[in-house]
Amino acid sequence: MQRKILVTSALPYANGSIHLGHLVEYIQTDIWVRFQKMRGHECHYVCADDAHGTPIMLRAQSEGITPETLIANTQQEHQADFADFNIKFDNFHTTHSDENRALANQIYLSNKAAGHITTRTISQAYDPEKEMFLPDRFIKGTCPKCGVDDQYGDNCEACGATYDPTDLINPVSAVSGATPITKDSEHHFFKLGDFEDDLKKWTRAGHLQKEVSHKLDEWFEGGLRDWDISRDAPYFGFEIPDAPNKYFYVWLDAPIGYLASFKQYCDRTGIDFDDYMKPDSTTEMVHFIGKDIIYFHALFWPATLQGAGFRLPTSIFAHGFLTVDGKKMSKSRGTFIKARTYLDHLNPEYLRYYYAAKLGSGIDDIDLNLEDFQNRINSDLVGKVVNIASRCAGYINKKFDGQLSSSLADATLFEEFTAQADSIADKMENREFGHAMRDIMALADKANQYIDEMKPWTLAKEEGKEQQVHDIYSMGINLFRVLIAYLKPVLPNTVEQAEAFLNIEPLHWRDINNPLLDHTINKFKPLMTRIESDKIEAIQEASKETMVTGQAVEETKSDIEPIADEISFDDFAKIDLRIAKIVNAEHVEGAKKLLKLTLDIGNGEKQVFAGIKSAYAPEDLTGKLTVMVANLAPRKMRFGLSEGMVLAAGPGGKDLFILNPDEGAQPGMRVK
Ligand code: 2FM
Ligand code: ZN
Repeated sequence: MQRKILVTSALPYANGSIHLGHLVEYIQTDIWVRFQKMRGHECHYVCADDAHGTPIMLRAQSEGITPETLIANTQQEHQADFADFNIKFDNFHTTHSDENRALANQIYLSNKAAGHITTRTISQAYDPEKEMFLPDRFIKGTCPKCGVDDQYGDNCEACGATYDPTDLINPVSAVSGATPITKDSEHHFFKLGDFEDDLKKWTRAGHLQKEVSHKLDEWFEGGLRDWDISRDAPYFGFEIPDAPNKYFYVWLDAPIGYLASFKQYCDRTGIDFDDYMKPDSTTEMVHFIGKDIIYFHALFWPATLQGAGFRLPTSIFAHGFLTVDGKKMSKSRGTFIKARTYLDHLNPEYLRYYYAAKLGSGIDDIDLNLEDFQNRINSDLVGKVVNIASRCAGYINKKFDGQLSSSLADATLFEEFTAQADSIADKMENREFGHAMRDIMALADKANQYIDEMKPWTLAKEEGKEQQVHDIYSMGINLFRVLIAYLKPVLPNTVEQAEAFLNIEPLHWRDINNPLLDHTINKFKPLMTRIESDKIEAIQEASKETMVTGQAVEETKSDIEPIADEISFDDFAKIDLRIAKIVNAEHVEGAKKLLKLTLDIGNGEKQVFAGIKSAYAPEDLTGKLTVMVANLAPRKMRFGLSEGMVLAAGPGGKDLFILNPDEGAQPGMRVK
């Protein structure tokens, strides 16, 4: 049965660039949507920029432009980034639109008429100079817990404490520098508690992932509080219809932006908006989001929809965060990578595949390990999949003018490939993309094995074996076709080129079973090339550059990093420090900072890659003693295995000093 599915990804804020963290979600959603479309379902993928709120208003002011100009510029940038990552929205709008204003008003007024809105006066921090109320993030001061200066009003970046802005010592407005005062104002609240029973039922009825619905149970236990949905002028947003100078809080109209974008799309294409939105709709509405915004989507959003007489979401699919090389993205490490920076150096489909290979249906964080990324693309996509076509096409083109055989050389093997269509489809449907990719790569291995075993290149040298060779290579092309059909939602552009090479109509899931027989293919052009290390290094370098010139100034403000979390003596005692003799030191090809050291620690040698090239030439090191962390778990690096760490200290560059034990020390001695 054909399903009708409206799909959304969370709306990116209109004051920042898209980075690789955002892309986890857009790529995940886009793959799912492309899969649904390939299966023949009616699926509409909409998104928009999230254009309202104080940060956007202030950012525009600081740039000396109107918020409208800021959001228009950002929208252009976002749309170009998405398009270049082959993320294919059916519509991309903005929350600062007529459709959104109309829908936000409608949803608010219906809720109000039904008694779900209340007002009361609250006290908040106010900037007397700028004459505006200050969100927590715009108040700075000294952390009441650890005493570090210049911390935000909601939590301390140095010690991690959370608190109210009124707890800050010497608070100042981050906007004007003035000392905030406390001021009263009347606010509008959405009475979330009115929906408690219905929400409890809804959140347990299969619309959410299990771990998410358990999280909600905790929130229910804590009680549902009224939600403050208004903000005072000056604010960039929609004025509340019956409350002059009061604006809808950005999070009220943001999810409504999903509907507004869909409405604009329906108006353009003639799709029936109301059919999707009525409470008893047989269509599906599916939201992909990050796990940090579950509260908004699984509580506020269904409640506001229900209060306004709209349908509720069918599914909310949350995903985890992205780490790069096992850590939070960081501007100083060059791992805070913008979409555009990546695109300047690498094919977007590499990242699409890597994320697909890592993604499952849960909310665990996923790690982009840059070395693994490079290896995986080179081995899976270039080495396995594309390789099949490049091995087979030459002969068919040269000897048979591109004509494939009229029968399958190994019908059983072909059937083995197509028989997985249903189970791969199930995995894709359930967002188990990683499992699906593993299955597909296992098939790619089989296809290569088949060719290896048949040895067509040997047969080709024998007399009278032409037809057999032709059949083997044609079989290879048919296996390749099945693989690219499975990979099409993940690699739309590569597969489009492969379709052109195979000279076929766009592949649908239902076509997978039909082999290409007696069919003429085109000349093969390489569909993908290997990732070389210099590309990844260039991306990291370019991401570091933005730090100095761009937004990362906050990270460079202080030269002295805060002291890390306290560890116990027992933790410290676990570190086995040994005297090590550097028996060999050499350059590492392609590495800007690393030297490869061979260290004698008395009972054997260890290999360590140390980032000390800026300060030492290999010949300066050979023969020296140093101190090494001998029991650090070995780490696979791009250049090889690193089996420990050498201790060095200093600010970096030329000033980096390895620890030199005195001459009486012997390799292997424990350092106390
Ligand atoms: O967290 C964010 O980046 C928000 N801009 C997401 C909004 S999603 C939806 F509700 F609009
Ligand atoms: Zn602190």
